[in-house]
Amino acid sequence: MAIPERLRFGSLAVEPALILAPMAGLTDTVFRRVIRSLGGCGLIMTEFTNAHGVVAHRGGPAAKNRRRPFNYLHYEPDEHPIVAQLFGSDPEVLADAARVVEDAGFDGIDMNFGCPVKKVVKCNGGSGLLRDLPLAERILKAVRAAVAIPFTCKIRTGWDEDRLVYAQMGRLAEDCGLQGIALHGRTRAQGYAGEADWDRIAALKQAVGIPVVGNGDVFSPQDCLRMFRHTGCDGVMIGRAASSNPWIFRQIRQYIATGRYDRPTEADRYRLLSDYYRRLARDGDKISGDPLGKMKQFAAYFTRGVRNGARLRKAIYRVRSQEEACAAVSEFFEGQLGAAA
Ligand SMILES: Cc1cc2nc3c(=O)[nH]c(=O)nc-3n(C[C@H](O)[C@H](O)[C@H](O)COP(=O)(O)O)c2cc1C
Repeated sequence: MAIPERLRFGSLAVEPALILAPMAGLTDTVFRRVIRSLGGCGLIMTEFTNAHGVVAHRGGPAAKNRRRPFNYLHYEPDEHPIVAQLFGSDPEVLADAARVVEDAGFDGIDMNFGCPVKKVVKCNGGSGLLRDLPLAERILKAVRAAVAIPFTCKIRTGWDEDRLVYAQMGRLAEDCGLQGIALHGRTRAQGYAGEADWDRIAALKQAVGIPVVGNGDVFSPQDCLRMFRHTGCDGVMIGRAASSNPWIFRQIRQYIATGRYDRPTEADRYRLLSDYYRRLARDGDKISGDPLGKMKQFAAYFTRGVRNGARLRKAIYRVRSQEEACAAVSEFFEGQLGAAA
C-alpha cells in the first residue's frame, strides 16, 4: 500500500501527511519552530487554548484581570501552515474565538474533544463533550458557520468502553462540514494507559468520507508506516515521541524513501539543546510558561537515552538562571564529546 504524500483539509494542504500533535505545555512557538527547523513535519498545531481566554484576550473586562501574558495563540510567520486548537463547551464563545483565530491568520482551526483532564471535563470541555453529542453538534455547527478557514476536530474513541462514539463523531463532523478528523485511539477512561486501538482508526476511516488522521503510540518511523498500513488513514499525528525525538518527522520521510533512517548523535543533541536554549532566550516572552522551567523540562526530554544523561538532568535541576542552564549544558556535552574524541 502506498503512503499518502499529502493530505488536504479543504484548502489546507499538509505535505508530508505528518502532523505534530497539540500538546499543552509543550507545543509553544519556540518548540514548534524547532520542529519546523528539523524538517519533515507537514503541519503544526498550537497548544489547546481556552475559548473564553481567547475572547477575553481580544478585549473586554476580563482582559484587564489577566495575571499572565496570554501567548497561547502567538506564532511567527515561518510557522505556516499552522492550526490553532480551541477547547470549551459554549458554542457561541467558541464561534467568537474561532473568528479571532481566523483574523489572526491561522490556516485552520481544530476543536478539542479529547482532553481527559478533570478540570476541563468538569466544564464539559475536551473529552467531556463525547458524552453529549447534541452539544458537540451545536458547537461544530456554530464554529463552522463563524469562519471560512478549514475546520477539523480531534477526538478520543469515546468516554469509556461502554460509550464509544468515534464513528458517530466522525459522521457528525462530516455532516457539519468539517474538513477532517483526528482520532487518538484511546477512551477518556484509559487516559494514557494500555494501547491506542488502531482498529478503531481503521473503522473511522471506513465510516467517513473526510480525511482521517491516526494518532496514538507512534514512537518510531516503523510505527508510523504500520499506522498508515494498518488503518488506511490519510495522515499520522505524533505527540509524545516528538518531545524527546524531534527528528522523528525527518526520520519517517527518510525511512519511507530509503528503508533506513539516521539516528541523532550526541553532537546533534547538543546542537539541538543549544539551539532550543538560544531560541528561548530570544523569544521567552512569547510563550505562556516560564522560560527557565522550559529549559529544565527540555533538557530532560532531549537527553533521554544520552550516556550519563542523568548527570546533566541533575545539574540542570539545580540551576537558578538561564545562563547557568546554558553553562551546565555546555559543560556536560563538551566533557562528554571531549571524552569520546
Ligand atoms: C503533555 C501532553 C499534553 C497534551 N495536550 C494536548 C492538547 O493540548 N490538545 C490535544 O488535543 N491533545 C493533547 N494531548 C494529547 C496528544 O495530542 C496525543 O493525542 C496523545 O499524546 C497521543 O499521541 P502520542 O501517542 O503520539 O503521544 C497532550 C498529550 C500530552 C502528553
